[in-house]
Amino acid sequence: MGAANHPAWYHNIRKNPMVTVETGAETYEAIAGIPQGQERDGLFSQVLDEAPGFAEHQAKTTREIPVVVLHRVGSELDRVKGMGDWLVEVHDWLREELAELRRQADKVVDGTAGSIERTPPDLGQEMRVHCLNFCGALKRHHTGEDMATFPMLARQFPALAPALAKLGAEHVVVARLQTEIQQLVDGYVPGESDPVRLRDELDRLASELETHFAYEEQTVVTALNATAPAPVF
Ligand SMILES: [Fe+2]
Ligand SMILES: [Fe+2]
Repeated sequence: MGAANHPAWYHNIRKNPMVTVETGAETYEAIAGIPQGQERDGLFSQVLDEAPGFAEHQAKTTREIPVVVLHRVGSELDRVKGMGDWLVEVHDWLREELAELRRQADKVVDGTAGSIERTPPDLGQEMRVHCLNFCGALKRHHTGEDMATFPMLARQFPALAPALAKLGAEHVVVARLQTEIQQLVDGYVPGESDPVRLRDELDRLASELETHFAYEEQTVVTALNATAPAPVF
């Protein structure tokens, strides 16, 4: 009503955006987003079209009246595939690519140790190509998150901001590890380089990455599914 301070419920949803919505006979779960800037202004003018009284509320106070968007959290069965599901699919693909790279490294180690038939001569080349593809895809995925997905989520869901900052910091660690691995693979000389070191580094990346993916899936998938559909290719 144009009071000087935001209502208490607004502060509550900034801390925890998961809400239960009751409209007449219907009750459902939703996640409350707080759009900012132009998006907020566009929605507020739509509100004014339908309920001009809000202009009077705004005129009574210097604070900007916030707009809150309730994104319905659909049941697993009937909802369309969301952006969060898509994120998990990308992670699964990256997990499998890294697993394949580790299988190749295992073959190199075993071949060197003489426990299986000699390492195929083209395995080093195969690994280089595979490593390049995997690293490129991982870099694009994290750049997209850093530049678009995470800032969008942080703007709309203030409660997620600390988790998103942690995820962003993990991207830096993963990128460093990835560069080291790429250098090891590129510079690998059969008979000279230490294949065990290469495999150990890959194991380390795999474990860091799995921790990162798991934490990310646990924190952002619900919000992403509620806010955006999966991209169509
Ligand atoms: Fe990430
Ligand atoms: Fe991710």
